[in-house]
Amino acid sequence: MKNSSIFLQIIVVILIAEESSSLLAPSIKPCPINSPNLADCVIKAIEKLKPEIGTGIYGPNLRTDVNLTNFNLGDISVDRSFKLKMTDMHGYGFNNFKIEKLRINPENFKIDAIMFFPHADVYSKYFLAWNLGIFTLQGGGDMSVSIDKSRILLKFVGSTYFKNGVEHIKIDTIQMTIKSAEMRVYFDNLFNGQKALEQAANEVINQNIDIIKGDVVPLIEQRISSVVLKIANQIFASGTHKDFFPVN
Ligand SMILES: *[C@@H]1O[C@H](CO)[C@@H](O)[C@H](O)[C@H]1NC(C)=O
Repeated sequence: MKNSSIFLQIIVVILIAEESSSLLAPSIKPCPINSPNLADCVIKAIEKLKPEIGTGIYGPNLRTDVNLTNFNLGDISVDRSFKLKMTDMHGYGFNNFKIEKLRINPENFKIDAIMFFPHADVYSKYFLAWNLGIFTLQGGGDMSVSIDKSRILLKFVGSTYFKNGVEHIKIDTIQMTIKSAEMRVYFDNLFNGQKALEQAANEVINQNIDIIKGDVVPLIEQRISSVVLKIANQIFASGTHKDFFPVN
């Protein structure tokens, strides 16, 4: 009788302890808020998390709805000097990155980061009509955008809130700016499958890529930002402010 009551007490203690201690996924490395090298710690913590950012699986209790290996970017329509409709867009390879610089204010939560992406791709279906004066470039099918050596500025602006008396972090906005990138597009089937014309036209389009970039890149930046926002908030919702940024 006595033994079983002690056993029960131990179980209760374990349960309480488990509830009050950090439930952070083991893949997530906390960074002491008062560390003089906080930014370095955050860079290391994010870079260590790359495999998980790639799969969306961070631990037994944390899976994000989206991963950066392959994610949906939806549809984009541009109607300017050219008409371009991109549907069923997907981003690939954005899980391959390096953080070059990072600034963090962990209290009124802000992070600015410059990230380098050696190579990423966007694939989608397209419809294009581009009146070039002498003739109209027109086609529909598959398209790809290859993005090499891009430098991207990411600005996270967040805030903290209290849930059950405990402080948590959420990200309110993410602003992404592609600072530089080598971008190439390829439109399949531009002239109903006449390969020589298709290749020549794609060559011309890539020589004038800035026209497309100006109208399309801001939309792609917004889409990728909202994907990163979703991931960041699912991760931050998995712990408290203290779990991520304990006081040493
Ligand atoms: C990432 O998400 C995509 C789309 O939801 C899914 O098909 C894929 O299996 C996920 N994992 C990896 C490692 O790509």
